[in-house]
Amino acid sequence: MKSTPHPRDHHHENLDKIERLDRKLADLGIKIRKDEDSRKVTGEVFDETTLLALYKLVNKKVISSIGGSISTGKEANVFIAGRTGKTGEETGAAVKIYRLRTGNFTTMSEYILGDPRFSNIRRTHKDIIFAWTKKEYSNLARTREAGIPCPEPLAFDRNILIMEFLGEDGIPYPQMRQKLPKSPEETYQDAVGLIRDLYQKARLVHGDLSEYNILTGADGLILIDMAQAVTPEHPKAYNFLFRDIRNINRFFAPKCKTTDEHDVFRNIVGEEFFEI
Ligand SMILES: Nc1ncnc2c1ncn2[C@@H]1O[C@H](COP(=O)(O)OP(=O)(O)OP(=O)(O)O)[C@@H](O)[C@H]1O
Ligand SMILES: [Mg+2]
Repeated sequence: MKSTPHPRDHHHENLDKIERLDRKLADLGIKIRKDEDSRKVTGEVFDETTLLALYKLVNKKVISSIGGSISTGKEANVFIAGRTGKTGEETGAAVKIYRLRTGNFTTMSEYILGDPRFSNIRRTHKDIIFAWTKKEYSNLARTREAGIPCPEPLAFDRNILIMEFLGEDGIPYPQMRQKLPKSPEETYQDAVGLIRDLYQKARLVHGDLSEYNILTGADGLILIDMAQAVTPEHPKAYNFLFRDIRNINRFFAPKCKTTDEHDVFRNIVGEEFFEI
């Protein structure tokens, strides 16, 4: 006789799978659930799909251990991880995990579907998040190819992106809002230079640029958080670019003289900005 399983059984089956994946990861030296207390927090991030993706990345030896949390954002959590470099040396990685139960999903769709590189993906919730992760990987790769400072993308699987760790002795570099690498005037010019190079050399508009998404590294400013970056063909690319310029001007205006945002836009694009 056929019987539909009780929803509780599904729940149990799921927990079993998660326990099994946890154990498989533990066998590889990756411990995620340390105690009952952190179980609740980690449960939000490390569901079955995410553990499976993590397991695959560990198996491929992209990372060798996972450490503490660096940041809990609106859509993603960032963790520090251990990795063995090309010459066998132990270096760091940053593991960005997009939560599958994210609240900010409508904005993701808007950015993804206007981008010709990603417009033909399936449109379920998970698919959009997987495409979002892949998009951040591609944007980072494209930015680096253009010679613009950003973390080197190392690998991605489903909702997990692994990239180079930016920091020293396990401490991430500060965000630009916390520390400027040079005088305000010079740092402002560098920030505008990053926006210009990103547009002219990488053909990308960051789309969420602010003093939070630029780190101050040992050699100057570094762009991060690039999932939402779009190519100039995106119907809203100019609006995003103008908003990026305005955010940077807003941050520097109390610190030094800034160039009018319309002038910055014209210098970068070679056209006037008209709100559409
Ligand atoms: N590669 C990295 N190396 C070191 N620290 C990083 C790295 N990537 C991110 N971080 C730290 O984690 C923080 C959050 O990262 P990021 O801005 O990419 O995600 P987010 O703002 O949480 O993303 P979202 O807003 O999409 O949820 C950064 O401000 C930075 O402090
Ligand atoms: Mg950010």
